[in-house]
Amino acid sequence: MDNKKQSWEESYQKKDNFLFYPHEEIIRFFAKHISQRTGLTTFKKKHSNEGLPKVLDLGCGIGRHVIFSHEMQTEAYGVDLSESAISFAIDWAEKEGIQDARKRIIQSDITQMPFQNDFFDFVVSHGVLDSMSANICQKAIADTHRVMKPGGYFYCDLISGDDSAHNPDFSGEEIVQTEHEKNTIQLYFNRKTINDFFSPYFDIAEIALIKRTNSLNNQFISRYHIVLKKK
Ligand SMILES: C[S@@+](CC[C@H](N)C(=O)[O-])C[C@H]1O[C@@H](n2cnc3c(N)ncnc32)[C@H](O)[C@@H]1O
Repeated sequence: MDNKKQSWEESYQKKDNFLFYPHEEIIRFFAKHISQRTGLTTFKKKHSNEGLPKVLDLGCGIGRHVIFSHEMQTEAYGVDLSESAISFAIDWAEKEGIQDARKRIIQSDITQMPFQNDFFDFVVSHGVLDSMSANICQKAIADTHRVMKPGGYFYCDLISGDDSAHNPDFSGEEIVQTEHEKNTIQLYFNRKTINDFFSPYFDIAEIALIKRTNSLNNQFISRYHIVLKKK
């Protein structure tokens, strides 16, 4: 299976996905399930763990959600295919005072992660499971299930075929032709493929389809934002 590692390395050399601030839906997930910021130095705990919850950013890129996770009072971990992205993420995490950054932020394919079974309380993943072939995505979902504790929550987002370039029910793979993420894979989802891929491992706790329309020309894209609970 071609995981397009070389194309991702080239993409990071061009500084694609050098993103430094957390995505709004990740902030929302943390506030609801993990930790809600109530002041400059105060947080309201939303989880039931005794100590800090272990949170994995699956496909962490340069680490924006690992850093956010650490700021939100967790034991933060990250994993990504790209060596250059991981190297940047480790440097950033060390500057932010994350202990054992080199042990916690790891280069690996997410189909076979070097973490024990039932290790993480939560997993978050933004723009990742739709950036690979369907085959690899299904294996990654199975390995995510393996590394999570029973009942743990998993946030991810997926691009929907419901955009102005496809018919609303489209699902399938396309090779990215634009300069941004050139030669990587874009995997489009509909409700059926989401159910087929996730239902052996997770229950869907929340699912929202968020549409963004350019009002100048009516072109639109949409993404599913999903909260899953490990079966
Ligand atoms: C669009 S980027 C998103 C990065 C990050 N989640 C963020 O929100 O900034 C997609 C990421 O998925 C990673 N990726 C793609 N296929 C992967 C695989 N098989 N295993 C691990 N990471 C993978 C890429 O290296 C890239 O960092």
